[in-house]
Amino acid sequence: MEIEIRAGDLADETFDEQLPEPLQGKASRHFTPVAVAREAARLLAPTPGMRVLDIGAGVGKFCIVAATEVPTATFVGVEWRPHFVRIAMLLARRASTPNVMFILADAFEVNWSSYDSFYFFNPFAEQLFEPDEVLDATIAFEPANFIRYVYEVRRRLARAPIGTRVATYHGFGGSHPPGYIRVEDGSVGPTRLQLWIKTSTDDEDDF
Ligand SMILES: C[S@@+](CC[C@H](N)C(=O)[O-])C[C@H]1O[C@@H](n2cnc3c(N)ncnc32)[C@H](O)[C@@H]1O
Repeated sequence: MEIEIRAGDLADETFDEQLPEPLQGKASRHFTPVAVAREAARLLAPTPGMRVLDIGAGVGKFCIVAATEVPTATFVGVEWRPHFVRIAMLLARRASTPNVMFILADAFEVNWSSYDSFYFFNPFAEQLFEPDEVLDATIAFEPANFIRYVYEVRRRLARAPIGTRVATYHGFGGSHPPGYIRVEDGSVGPTRLQLWIKTSTDDEDDF
């Protein structure tokens, strides 16, 4: 089966119904809506050749939709649930998107320095959720992890080069790192999708 993602009117339901049954009911809460993914892709990769890392790629919905929206960029998703990475790779093949790849790893074990842009759909919020709200019980949840992860994101982004782009959908759990300015609202909503660009190296250690 193929997924026709290039058509401008891809519905979220069309993507989500490709997922295993237990995930279909969770998709709207945990995976980026198609319209948001398209907008974020354009904000994150405005010039050809850019490399975008999705921190916590889930089943690949953001990366796959983004890769079809901006074929001149490369979208890489890092995800620590192996069964999600398998689904993401299968869906990417079905969608015939050559400019997307997935890494099975903890996001903090990956070198972020080869990426121009980063996407976050509040990836660590699950650490704070009630058991019936999480995607599944295959990872350990610990509220202290949320604080550690957010701190580490801010530390890494603070040291990224000038020009680094960060798009957040529902944030990443913390305030934007030093040196970044918010440059544009997403067209899908005034606050849910935000773009930040690093413009200064001042206060790099002040995260
Ligand atoms: C809210 S979902 C977003 C999925 C995808 N980015 C999207 O927008 O469609 C967050 C995902 O991040 C993953 N995740 C959370 N912490 C992670 C970490 N430290 N390393 C890798 N993946 C992580 C979770 O397993 C989950 O699949």
